[in-house]
Amino acid sequence: MLQVIDLEKRFFLHRLGREVLAFRQVSFSLQAGELLLLEGPNGAGKSSLLRTLYRSYCPTGGQILLQTPRGRVDLARLGDREILWIRREYIGYVSQFLDPRPRTTALELVAEPLLWRGVEESRARQRAAELLLELNLKPELLEAFPTGFSGGEKQKLNLARSLIHPYPLLLLDEPTASLDAGARKALRERLRLLKQQGTALVGVFHSPEDVAGLVDKTYHLEEKQDVAVRT
Ligand SMILES: Nc1ncnc2c1ncn2[C@@H]1O[C@H](COP(=O)(O)OP(=O)(O)OP(=O)(O)O)[C@@H](O)[C@H]1O
Ligand SMILES: [Mg+2]
Repeated sequence: MLQVIDLEKRFFLHRLGREVLAFRQVSFSLQAGELLLLEGPNGAGKSSLLRTLYRSYCPTGGQILLQTPRGRVDLARLGDREILWIRREYIGYVSQFLDPRPRTTALELVAEPLLWRGVEESRARQRAAELLLELNLKPELLEAFPTGFSGGEKQKLNLARSLIHPYPLLLLDEPTASLDAGARKALRERLRLLKQQGTALVGVFHSPEDVAGLVDKTYHLEEKQDVAVRT
């Protein structure tokens, strides 16, 4: 369902007048229901690779072939407008940080992806509440504005927003870094369930036990192979 071929991302640092390599020659394929674990030292390009798969970054080379019910698309070549609907329909992405929106409650933020899909509002809110409580969010925070939430509470929200709908492809960037033990366990169960439903996952995880028994493939990103210098 996902085939990545010779993917590469370089950044051009204008201030320094030179390029920085995030990663290069990345190739792998992933079937529905498989989990690929991304490994590598700090700065190896793990987050950049996830952002490139989500097309927050535009790759500087290679292909990202995603199978959709409307046929196969190359995310590396799609325009920004097409990327928006592809994301909404097919790709979930959990970053490490949540940018809370002003005057939107925790429950509203998490229920939103279901509302986009036409789920009736009270049902969507109910499912959002169940998921947040499963991740051990304090019940009194459901109707609160997340601006004042702790790091771990924000991460729970962020996760819930991407887990509430089974996206065909889910990208996870260290989603457990600030989670307590109960939430980690709940997340592992959710991921197991998503795999059973056919979601393909690509993730970076701080501790391997967070995905114990769930990993099908491992991709190791090496430390920088080259830093091209432009003068
Ligand atoms: N937006 C950007 N502009 C310029 N350089 C960037 C940008 N994003 C990432 N980089 C560079 O790309 C390289 C890879 O960074 P990335 O964040 O992908 O590493 P990582 O493997 O996720 O590291 P960590 O384990 O610390 O999270 C780094 O050298 C970084 O400085
Ligand atoms: Mg990272």
